[in-house]
Amino acid sequence: MTDKPFLTDVKTLRKRARQHIEQGAVTPGYQADRDTVVKLLNDALATEIVCVLRYKRHYFMADGIHAKSVADEFLQHANEEQMHADRIAQRIVQLGGEPDLAPDSLTARSHAEYKEGENLVDMIRENLVAERIAIDSYAEMIRYIGDGDTTTRRLLEDVLGQEEEHADDMKTLLEVVLKSGK
Ligand SMILES: [Fe+2]
Ligand SMILES: [Fe+2]
Repeated sequence: MTDKPFLTDVKTLRKRARQHIEQGAVTPGYQADRDTVVKLLNDALATEIVCVLRYKRHYFMADGIHAKSVADEFLQHANEEQMHADRIAQRIVQLGGEPDLAPDSLTARSHAEYKEGENLVDMIRENLVAERIAIDSYAEMIRYIGDGDTTTRRLLEDVLGQEEEHADDMKTLLEVVLKSGK
């Protein structure tokens, strides 16, 4: 048995909170590598923005017999990706970083690609691929962060859950559209 206390005593906690108050939510107890977390979040932000743009393009370009229902789904996903982007940008600022929204480097920094798709089936397929990329990269980030930054991890877990729903939606749409042969 070690005599190291499990929790930090109140006096030390209070003293530590007073140091570096300009760092806001980031306290000396922050266990992750903040610069790396901000960098990872910025890559995720770029990915989300590219996904918004791809879904928006597909929303406006969807045509054919299933166009309406598929386009509605594309639009809903575009809006949800935008919410992900906003939450991620907010967390970056909370961590003392700056959200990188420079358009020139977006596609290079994004994990997922901006693919226009030739037709409805193509579009759905490209979105499914992009969602699967997002799922893998969020899972990786969550593993990397571990217990070092639980707030960021919870945010990423939330987003990951939604990306999994998105992938599932695209899989279902693909099946419906392929089955009807249109
Ligand atoms: Fe997303
Ligand atoms: Fe998604």
